[in-house]
Amino acid sequence: MLLIGFAAPAIAQASASAERVYEIIDAPVEIQNRPQAAPFDKCGGRVTFEDVWFRYPGATEPTLKGISFETQPKELIAILGTTGSGKSTVINLLQRFYDVTQGSVRIDGRDVRDFELESLRSHIGIVFQETTLFSGTLRENIAYAKPNASLEEVIAVAKAAYIHEFIESLPKGYDTIVGERGVGLSGGQKQRIAIARTLLTDYHILILDDSTSAVDAETADRIQASLDKIMRDRTCNAFVIAQRISTIQNADRILLIDDGKLAAQGTHEELMRTSSLYGAILESQVNQKQPAIVA
Ligand SMILES: Nc1ncnc2c1ncn2[C@@H]1O[C@H](COP(=O)(O)OP(=O)(O)O)[C@@H](O)[C@H]1O
Ligand SMILES: [Mg+2]
Repeated sequence: MLLIGFAAPAIAQASASAERVYEIIDAPVEIQNRPQAAPFDKCGGRVTFEDVWFRYPGATEPTLKGISFETQPKELIAILGTTGSGKSTVINLLQRFYDVTQGSVRIDGRDVRDFELESLRSHIGIVFQETTLFSGTLRENIAYAKPNASLEEVIAVAKAAYIHEFIESLPKGYDTIVGERGVGLSGGQKQRIAIARTLLTDYHILILDDSTSAVDAETADRIQASLDKIMRDRTCNAFVIAQRISTIQNADRILLIDDGKLAAQGTHEELMRTSSLYGAILESQVNQKQPAIVA
């Protein structure tokens, strides 16, 4: 007893420093709560990027170069740009996976660095391009963050994500096991389950980051059309990142990112009139869709 009593503080200390080592390995940069950090308990719907510059640790060039925009409450914002233009990085800064190098990111006027990290992240829902499902039923996978959700609730979000019909077509429906020993799902089906899962939780801010990329273009457009209203209704701000203009053309505003800069912003109609880059992207995508009409 005495020995253990003696050793205890040393063990506690050792494990505390071990924890610190893990934190440093896990986190590329140390993101911590500031002393006066406040919870992100209500959301007015105003996200502000003010002259945001960001360089990844170890990188020589900045990835974001003076990005400025401000959202209005309930706006559905689309972020459009080529691969590597910096779209996901914008989102990384909002959730504080990283902190800005220069400038500021604010929600309702408050710098995101002045929010409690846990609270900030738990109220921002993100659907990523890559999705992991766990071994369990489809219902459990959808209700992952809300295990007590009723079947009706699960079906409602599955319908919104255009995966209900597929699930119903399986012999065991929502009780179908997925994962290692269960039914195999395509990338697009997994993405739709991830969207349904995210819709089941009430987030202040909801972000779809290329989350219909594995779905064919027409289905992606249909999914997004059904999500447009839900995202506006349920959140104070929603962001959709996509490669295809057809998917996001009904957004309230489109932010066009080009090489880390905000090249243009506006509605689809406004950008068609004012942005030659947007016009060029649109043209290339329309041409892709209609390859061989010429006689
Ligand atoms: N963790 C990272 N470390 C260093 N560079 C990164 C990291 N993540 C992304 N980048 C770089 O930042 C640029 C923008 O990436 P990203 O925001 O993911 O683009 P997008 O989402 O538009 O495809 C790319 O050049 C990418 O290689
Ligand atoms: Mg990305």
